[in-house]
Amino acid sequence: MLNCNHALVFGGTGMLAEATGWIVKHVNHTVVFGRNRHRLERLSNKYSEQGLKVQELDYSNTESLKHQITNAYEEHGEIDLVVAWIHSTAPDAIPTIKRQIATLQVHRQWTLVIVKGSSSHLTNIAFTENDVPENCIVKEVQLGFIYNEMTSRWLSHHEISEGVITGIQSNERKTVVGTLEPWDKRP
Ligand SMILES: NC(=O)c1ccc[n+]([C@@H]2O[C@H](COP(=O)([O-])OP(=O)(O)OC[C@H]3O[C@@H](n4cnc5c(N)ncnc54)[C@H](OP(=O)(O)O)[C@@H]3O)[C@@H](O)[C@H]2O)c1
Repeated sequence: MLNCNHALVFGGTGMLAEATGWIVKHVNHTVVFGRNRHRLERLSNKYSEQGLKVQELDYSNTESLKHQITNAYEEHGEIDLVVAWIHSTAPDAIPTIKRQIATLQVHRQWTLVIVKGSSSHLTNIAFTENDVPENCIVKEVQLGFIYNEMTSRWLSHHEISEGVITGIQSNERKTVVGTLEPWDKRP
């Protein structure tokens, strides 16, 4: 069981929607960010009575990202959990999330779960986070593929969400979903 009052989710409206639903059920206040209004509304219709708030945001806009983190903090209080599946097109988003929460929240511990998945670059998945605020625990969920010695396939949405839920609950720093080895056997 999570001991968690306030969670932020970035990249949680698509393949990760099932994990977002799990987070909403285990956290008092969850804010999910995304650009696509229809995806946000779909989640809102399902979970708003359980404490979900959705917010339009393009996380590649650093000023908007900072502003929305501050808004969530002012509305629901200190942040316990951030789950972030951020595309490589927004390299400043994770550093901005870390810095902005570090500015707002100096003492209370929080957990940052970074989901890493790429169909082509192992180095992007295996890269380890540095520059972590003192009161922040970083966990990484690395998305691999399914390989049975004969054939391989990418993870299903359900497997991705299950892996992220496992990563959130785990005490390990890294959770690998499926396998990353042998990398040349990926689909
Ligand atoms: N390892 C595996 O087995 C596996 C399987 C499938 C996919 N993948 C990889 O997973 C990655 C993600 O795929 P996808 O994009 O199709 O996933 P998706 O889950 O359909 O969409 C990405 C999520 O990120 C959000 N997002 C993206 N850009 C954003 C931005 N600038 N600002 C705010 N939110 C943003 C989207 O919200 P909006 O729609 O609102 O923008 C959505 O919630 C790809 O690299 C793919 O190769 C790996």
